Amino acid sequence: MIRKAVFPAAGFGTRFLPATKASPKEMLPLVDKPLIQHGVEEARAAGIRDMIIVTGRGKNAIEDHFDVSFELEALLEKKGDGKLHSLVRAISDMADFFYVRQSLPLGLGHAVLCAMDMVGEEPFAVILSDDVIDSKVPVMRQMIKVYEKHSAAAVLAIQKVPKEHVSKYGIIEGREIAEGVYEIVDMVEKPKPGKAPSDLAIIGRYILPPSIFPLIRKTKPGAGGELQLTDAIRALLAGERVIGYAFEGVRYDAGTKLGFLMANIAFAMKDPEIGPGLRAFLKKERMS
Ligand code: UTP
Repeated sequence: MIRKAVFPAAGFGTRFLPATKASPKEMLPLVDKPLIQHGVEEARAAGIRDMIIVTGRGKNAIEDHFDVSFELEALLEKKGDGKLHSLVRAISDMADFFYVRQSLPLGLGHAVLCAMDMVGEEPFAVILSDDVIDSKVPVMRQMIKVYEKHSAAAVLAIQKVPKEHVSKYGIIEGREIAEGVYEIVDMVEKPKPGKAPSDLAIIGRYILPPSIFPLIRKTKPGAGGELQLTDAIRALLAGERVIGYAFEGVRYDAGTKLGFLMANIAFAMKDPEIGPGLRAFLKKERMS
Protein backbone atom coordinates (compact mmCIF):
# COMPACT_ATOMS: atom_id res chain seq x y z
CA MET A 1 0.00 0.00 0.00
CA ILE A 2 1.50 3.37 -1.05
CA ARG A 3 0.11 6.10 1.22
CA LYS A 4 2.63 8.90 0.79
CA ALA A 5 3.94 10.88 -2.16
CA VAL A 6 6.99 13.16 -2.13
CA PHE A 7 7.02 16.18 -4.46
CA PRO A 8 10.52 17.68 -4.83
CA ALA A 9 9.87 21.36 -5.53
CA ALA A 10 12.94 23.15 -4.21
CA GLY A 11 14.85 23.63 -7.48
CA PHE A 12 15.60 27.11 -8.81
CA GLY A 13 13.91 26.52 -12.17
CA THR A 14 16.66 28.40 -13.99
CA ARG A 15 15.40 27.36 -17.42
CA PHE A 16 12.33 29.50 -16.84
CA LEU A 17 14.05 32.67 -15.71
CA PRO A 18 12.96 35.40 -15.36
CA ALA A 19 9.47 33.90 -14.75
CA THR A 20 10.85 31.86 -11.83
CA LYS A 21 12.85 34.65 -10.20
CA ALA A 22 10.27 35.13 -7.45
CA SER A 23 7.63 32.47 -8.26
CA PRO A 24 8.02 28.70 -8.09
CA LYS A 25 8.25 26.79 -11.37
CA GLU A 26 5.84 24.25 -9.89
CA MET A 27 3.16 26.97 -9.76
CA LEU A 28 3.30 27.69 -13.51
CA PRO A 29 -0.17 26.94 -14.87
CA LEU A 30 -1.07 24.05 -17.11
CA VAL A 31 -4.18 25.71 -18.60
CA ASP A 32 -5.75 26.79 -15.28
CA LYS A 33 -4.08 24.59 -12.64
CA PRO A 34 -0.52 24.83 -11.34
CA LEU A 35 1.76 22.01 -12.47
CA ILE A 36 2.04 20.71 -8.91
CA GLN A 37 -1.75 20.46 -8.54
CA HIS A 38 -1.84 18.15 -11.56
CA GLY A 39 0.77 16.00 -9.78
CA VAL A 40 -1.19 15.97 -6.52
CA GLU A 41 -4.39 15.03 -8.36
CA GLU A 42 -2.54 12.15 -10.02
CA ALA A 43 -1.36 10.89 -6.62
CA ARG A 44 -4.88 11.22 -5.21
CA ALA A 45 -6.26 9.23 -8.15
CA ALA A 46 -3.77 6.50 -7.23
CA GLY A 47 -5.19 6.33 -3.69
CA ILE A 48 -2.40 8.35 -2.05
CA ARG A 49 -3.53 10.62 0.78
CA ASP A 50 -0.40 12.22 2.27
CA MET A 51 1.43 14.74 0.07
CA ILE A 52 4.92 15.67 1.26
CA ILE A 53 6.19 18.72 -0.59
CA VAL A 54 9.91 19.56 -0.47
CA THR A 55 10.15 23.33 -0.76
CA GLY A 56 12.85 25.96 -0.49
CA ARG A 57 13.33 29.71 -0.62
CA GLY A 58 10.63 31.62 -2.47
CA LYS A 59 8.23 28.68 -2.58
CA ASN A 60 5.56 30.02 -0.20
CA ALA A 61 3.02 30.21 -3.00
CA ILE A 62 2.88 26.39 -3.04
CA GLU A 63 1.88 26.24 0.64
CA ASP A 64 -0.67 29.02 0.16
CA HIS A 65 -2.15 27.25 -2.84
CA PHE A 66 -2.96 24.07 -0.93
CA ASP A 67 -4.09 25.95 2.20
CA VAL A 68 -7.63 27.17 2.93
CA SER A 69 -8.10 30.73 1.66
CA PHE A 70 -10.69 32.22 4.04
CA GLU A 71 -10.82 35.66 2.39
CA LEU A 72 -11.26 34.25 -1.11
CA GLU A 73 -13.85 31.72 0.02
CA ALA A 74 -15.79 34.39 1.94
CA LEU A 75 -15.75 36.65 -1.11
CA LEU A 76 -16.96 33.92 -3.47
CA GLU A 77 -19.68 32.94 -1.00
CA LYS A 78 -20.82 36.56 -0.73
CA LYS A 79 -20.94 36.79 -4.51
CA GLY A 80 -23.03 33.61 -4.58
CA ASP A 81 -20.51 31.87 -6.83
CA GLY A 82 -20.97 28.32 -5.52
CA LYS A 83 -19.12 26.72 -8.42
CA LEU A 84 -15.90 28.67 -7.91
CA HIS A 85 -16.24 28.38 -4.14
CA SER A 86 -16.30 24.58 -4.28
CA LEU A 87 -13.50 24.54 -6.87
CA VAL A 88 -11.28 26.55 -4.49
CA ARG A 89 -12.30 24.55 -1.39
CA ALA A 90 -11.67 21.22 -3.16
CA ILE A 91 -7.95 22.07 -3.47
CA SER A 92 -7.31 22.17 0.28
CA ASP A 93 -9.71 19.27 0.96
CA MET A 94 -8.07 17.01 -1.61
CA ALA A 95 -5.38 15.54 0.66
CA ASP A 96 -3.23 16.08 3.74
CA PHE A 97 -0.25 18.31 2.96
CA PHE A 98 3.11 18.29 4.73
CA TYR A 99 6.10 20.50 4.02
CA VAL A 100 9.81 20.11 4.52
CA ARG A 101 12.53 22.56 3.49
CA GLN A 102 15.58 21.77 1.44
CA SER A 103 17.82 24.68 2.37
CA LEU A 104 19.97 24.43 -0.79
CA PRO A 105 19.09 22.63 -4.03
CA LEU A 106 21.81 20.00 -3.76
CA GLY A 107 20.10 17.62 -6.17
CA LEU A 108 17.04 15.42 -6.55
CA GLY A 109 18.51 12.70 -4.31
CA HIS A 110 19.09 15.25 -1.57
CA ALA A 111 15.53 16.63 -1.96
CA VAL A 112 14.10 13.12 -1.46
CA LEU A 113 16.38 12.58 1.54
CA CYS A 114 14.88 15.70 3.15
CA ALA A 115 11.53 13.85 3.30
CA MET A 116 12.98 10.86 5.16
CA ASP A 117 11.47 11.56 8.60
CA MET A 118 8.05 12.27 7.14
CA VAL A 119 8.05 9.12 5.02
CA GLY A 120 9.19 6.82 7.82
CA GLU A 121 9.50 3.08 7.30
CA GLU A 122 7.18 2.56 4.35
CA PRO A 123 7.36 2.51 0.55
CA PHE A 124 6.48 5.84 -1.05
CA ALA A 125 5.95 7.58 -4.39
CA VAL A 126 8.02 10.43 -5.84
CA ILE A 127 6.39 12.73 -8.39
CA LEU A 128 8.21 15.44 -10.35
CA SER A 129 5.41 17.74 -11.35
CA ASP A 130 7.33 19.25 -14.26
CA ASP A 131 7.05 15.88 -16.01
CA VAL A 132 3.49 16.23 -17.24
CA ILE A 133 1.87 13.02 -18.43
CA ASP A 134 -1.39 12.90 -20.32
CA SER A 135 -2.85 9.40 -19.91
CA LYS A 136 -6.19 7.62 -19.64
CA VAL A 137 -5.19 5.92 -16.37
CA PRO A 138 -3.14 8.18 -14.07
CA VAL A 139 0.51 7.08 -14.34
CA MET A 140 1.02 6.54 -10.61
CA ARG A 141 -1.99 4.23 -10.61
CA GLN A 142 -0.47 2.25 -13.50
CA MET A 143 2.80 2.04 -11.56
CA ILE A 144 1.23 0.83 -8.30
CA LYS A 145 -0.42 -1.98 -10.27
CA VAL A 146 2.97 -3.04 -11.67
CA TYR A 147 4.56 -2.69 -8.22
CA GLU A 148 2.03 -5.09 -6.71
CA LYS A 149 1.98 -7.56 -9.60
CA HIS A 150 5.77 -7.95 -9.87
CA SER A 151 6.58 -7.79 -6.13
CA ALA A 152 9.18 -5.13 -6.84
CA ALA A 153 11.04 -3.06 -4.25
CA ALA A 154 11.01 -0.11 -6.63
CA VAL A 155 9.27 0.89 -9.85
CA LEU A 156 10.57 3.66 -12.12
CA ALA A 157 8.59 5.21 -14.96
CA ILE A 158 10.58 4.90 -18.17
CA GLN A 159 10.17 6.07 -21.75
CA LYS A 160 12.04 5.60 -25.03
CA VAL A 161 13.83 8.82 -25.99
CA PRO A 162 15.65 9.79 -29.19
CA LYS A 163 19.32 8.65 -29.05
CA GLU A 164 20.56 12.25 -29.24
CA HIS A 165 18.69 13.07 -26.02
CA VAL A 166 20.01 10.27 -23.76
CA SER A 167 22.56 12.54 -22.08
CA LYS A 168 19.74 14.56 -20.49
CA TYR A 169 18.33 11.58 -18.55
CA GLY A 170 19.03 8.63 -16.27
CA ILE A 171 19.20 5.65 -18.65
CA ILE A 172 18.43 2.05 -17.71
CA GLU A 173 19.85 -1.26 -18.81
CA GLY A 174 17.30 -4.05 -18.41
CA ARG A 175 15.50 -7.02 -19.90
CA GLU A 176 11.84 -7.00 -20.75
CA ILE A 177 9.95 -9.52 -18.57
CA ALA A 178 6.43 -8.55 -19.66
CA GLU A 179 5.12 -6.01 -22.14
CA GLY A 180 6.64 -2.65 -21.14
CA VAL A 181 7.98 -4.10 -17.87
CA TYR A 182 11.80 -4.24 -17.54
CA GLU A 183 13.85 -5.88 -14.84
CA ILE A 184 16.61 -3.30 -14.39
CA VAL A 185 20.19 -4.55 -14.10
CA ASP A 186 22.03 -1.24 -14.27
CA MET A 187 21.50 2.45 -14.86
CA VAL A 188 23.55 5.56 -15.49
CA GLU A 189 22.77 9.25 -14.96
CA LYS A 190 23.23 11.54 -17.98
CA PRO A 191 25.51 9.25 -20.05
CA LYS A 192 27.65 10.72 -22.84
CA PRO A 193 26.19 10.01 -26.31
CA GLY A 194 27.44 6.57 -27.39
CA LYS A 195 27.92 5.46 -23.76
CA ALA A 196 24.22 4.89 -22.97
CA PRO A 197 23.21 1.27 -22.28
CA SER A 198 19.80 1.81 -23.99
CA ASP A 199 17.40 4.53 -25.10
CA LEU A 200 15.07 3.96 -22.12
CA ALA A 201 15.05 7.07 -19.94
CA ILE A 202 13.83 7.44 -16.37
CA ILE A 203 10.92 9.89 -16.16
CA GLY A 204 9.79 11.76 -13.04
CA ARG A 205 7.68 9.09 -11.33
CA TYR A 206 9.11 6.60 -8.83
CA ILE A 207 7.95 4.11 -6.22
CA LEU A 208 10.77 3.58 -3.73
CA PRO A 209 11.36 1.58 -0.55
CA PRO A 210 12.50 3.32 2.66
CA SER A 211 15.86 1.52 2.29
CA ILE A 212 16.67 4.15 -0.37
CA PHE A 213 17.38 6.78 2.34
CA PRO A 214 20.61 5.32 3.77
CA LEU A 215 21.74 4.72 0.19
CA ILE A 216 21.17 8.38 -0.73
CA ARG A 217 23.17 9.33 2.36
CA LYS A 218 26.07 7.22 1.16
CA THR A 219 25.90 8.59 -2.39
CA LYS A 220 28.65 10.98 -3.49
CA PRO A 221 27.78 14.01 -5.62
CA GLY A 222 27.43 12.82 -9.22
CA ALA A 223 26.55 14.45 -12.55
CA GLY A 224 26.48 18.27 -12.20
CA GLY A 225 27.89 18.05 -8.63
CA GLU A 226 24.39 17.14 -7.37
CA LEU A 227 23.28 14.26 -5.18
CA GLN A 228 21.59 12.14 -7.83
CA LEU A 229 18.62 9.92 -7.04
CA THR A 230 19.63 7.62 -9.91
CA ASP A 231 22.98 6.87 -8.21
CA ALA A 232 21.20 5.78 -5.01
CA ILE A 233 18.71 3.61 -6.95
CA ARG A 234 21.70 2.05 -8.70
CA ALA A 235 23.03 1.01 -5.28
CA LEU A 236 19.58 -0.41 -4.47
CA LEU A 237 19.94 -2.79 -7.43
CA ALA A 238 22.55 -4.80 -5.52
CA GLY A 239 19.96 -6.31 -3.19
CA GLU A 240 16.51 -5.43 -4.49
CA ARG A 241 14.27 -5.94 -7.48
CA VAL A 242 13.92 -2.69 -9.42
CA ILE A 243 11.44 -2.52 -12.28
CA GLY A 244 11.27 -0.03 -15.14
CA TYR A 245 7.79 0.49 -16.49
CA ALA A 246 7.10 2.00 -19.91
CA PHE A 247 3.81 3.68 -18.97
CA GLU A 248 0.85 4.34 -21.22
CA GLY A 249 0.56 8.06 -21.90
CA VAL A 250 2.14 11.07 -23.56
CA ARG A 251 4.78 12.88 -21.56
CA TYR A 252 5.75 16.54 -21.82
CA ASP A 253 8.91 17.94 -20.31
CA ALA A 254 7.29 20.99 -18.77
CA GLY A 255 10.62 21.87 -17.15
CA THR A 256 11.58 23.39 -20.51
CA LYS A 257 9.86 26.31 -22.20
CA LEU A 258 9.03 24.34 -25.34
CA GLY A 259 7.73 21.27 -23.47
CA PHE A 260 5.70 23.51 -21.18
CA LEU A 261 4.06 25.25 -24.15
CA MET A 262 3.37 21.94 -25.90
CA ALA A 263 1.75 20.55 -22.73
CA ASN A 264 -0.39 23.65 -22.44
CA ILE A 265 -1.55 23.42 -26.05
CA ALA A 266 -2.29 19.67 -25.76
CA PHE A 267 -4.28 20.11 -22.53
CA ALA A 268 -6.03 23.27 -23.73
CA MET A 269 -7.14 21.54 -26.96
CA LYS A 270 -8.99 18.98 -24.82
CA ASP A 271 -10.60 21.60 -22.61
CA PRO A 272 -14.31 21.90 -23.46
CA GLU A 273 -14.37 25.61 -22.63
CA ILE A 274 -11.35 26.89 -24.53
CA GLY A 275 -10.49 23.96 -26.84
CA PRO A 276 -12.74 25.02 -29.76
CA GLY A 277 -11.47 28.61 -29.65
CA LEU A 278 -7.84 27.50 -29.54
CA ARG A 279 -8.34 25.11 -32.44
CA ALA A 280 -9.93 27.87 -34.51
CA PHE A 281 -7.03 30.18 -33.65
CA LEU A 282 -4.39 27.61 -34.61
CA LYS A 283 -6.20 26.88 -37.86
CA LYS A 284 -6.31 30.58 -38.74
CA GLU A 285 -2.60 31.02 -37.90
CA ARG A 286 -1.68 28.12 -40.20
CA MET A 287 -3.54 29.77 -43.06
CA SER A 288 -1.91 33.16 -42.58
P1 UTP B 1 15.13 20.09 -12.33
O1 UTP B 1 16.25 19.25 -12.75
O2 UTP B 1 14.10 20.45 -13.35
O3 UTP B 1 15.76 21.41 -11.68
O4 UTP B 1 14.44 19.40 -11.08
P2 UTP B 1 15.14 22.84 -11.45
O5 UTP B 1 16.03 23.59 -10.52
O6 UTP B 1 13.70 22.76 -11.01
O7 UTP B 1 15.13 23.52 -12.88
P3 UTP B 1 16.34 24.07 -13.80
O8 UTP B 1 17.08 22.85 -14.28
O9 UTP B 1 17.20 25.00 -12.98
O10 UTP B 1 15.63 24.78 -14.89
C1 UTP B 1 13.37 18.49 -11.19
C2 UTP B 1 12.47 18.63 -9.96
O11 UTP B 1 13.23 18.36 -8.78
C3 UTP B 1 13.19 19.44 -7.90
C4 UTP B 1 12.79 20.65 -8.74
O12 UTP B 1 12.11 21.63 -7.96
C5 UTP B 1 11.92 20.05 -9.81
O13 UTP B 1 10.56 19.96 -9.39
N1 UTP B 1 14.51 19.61 -7.23
C6 UTP B 1 15.66 19.57 -7.97
C7 UTP B 1 14.57 19.81 -5.87
O14 UTP B 1 13.52 19.84 -5.17
N2 UTP B 1 15.78 19.96 -5.28
C8 UTP B 1 16.95 19.92 -5.99
O15 UTP B 1 18.02 20.07 -5.38
C9 UTP B 1 16.87 19.72 -7.37
